[in-house]
Amino acid sequence: MTFIKFSVVLVTISLILFSCADSNRQRKNLSDPFGNNVSLTYEQRQGKHLYTKYCSVCHGESGKGDGFNAYNLEIRPKNLSDSIYMKSFSDEQLFEAIAQGGRGINKSVLMPAWGNTFKQYQIHYLVEYIKIFRQPKEIESGQE
Ligand code: HEC
Repeated sequence: MTFIKFSVVLVTISLILFSCADSNRQRKNLSDPFGNNVSLTYEQRQGKHLYTKYCSVCHGESGKGDGFNAYNLEIRPKNLSDSIYMKSFSDEQLFEAIAQGGRGINKSVLMPAWGNTFKQYQIHYLVEYIKIFRQPKEIESGQE
């Protein structure tokens, strides 16, 4: 009986270890939003993780404002990969927009405030990640 219990514990531990190793591997292989295999910094990888989970439903995987939920919004999210538009935002303004949501920055209230959901450093990760959206655009479409 104890032996059975012991092996159950062993199997559980190895499953946990295995899935950790697996998610680490996935994290290292992350590509940028356009599928290019650029290496993301630690902060950008963390940001991507959060973005994919919480933001992409509206903003779309690559920030184009084409998440599946965007079509239900009266005011659609703007294109975060539009480098000209996005350059008008400083890091602080992006931080504010995420922390305070649309209401806080006099924009659509459909952009939720995330200040109570995330810690400051997580919002910082998100800022670092969404800034990548605007970078590869010149390469992709040849225009700026
Ligand atoms: C329910 C849909 C929805 C979700 C989820 C959402 N947003 Fe938004 N977001 C919007 C809308 C709509 C706007 C545009 C507001 C406007 O232009 O009036 C916006 C605007 C923004 C802006 C300002 C840029 C601009 O165009 O003015 C940033 C930055 C942003 N969102 C980041 C995020 C991040 C990061 C997350 C995830 C933590 C997120 N959003 C989740 C709907 C959403």
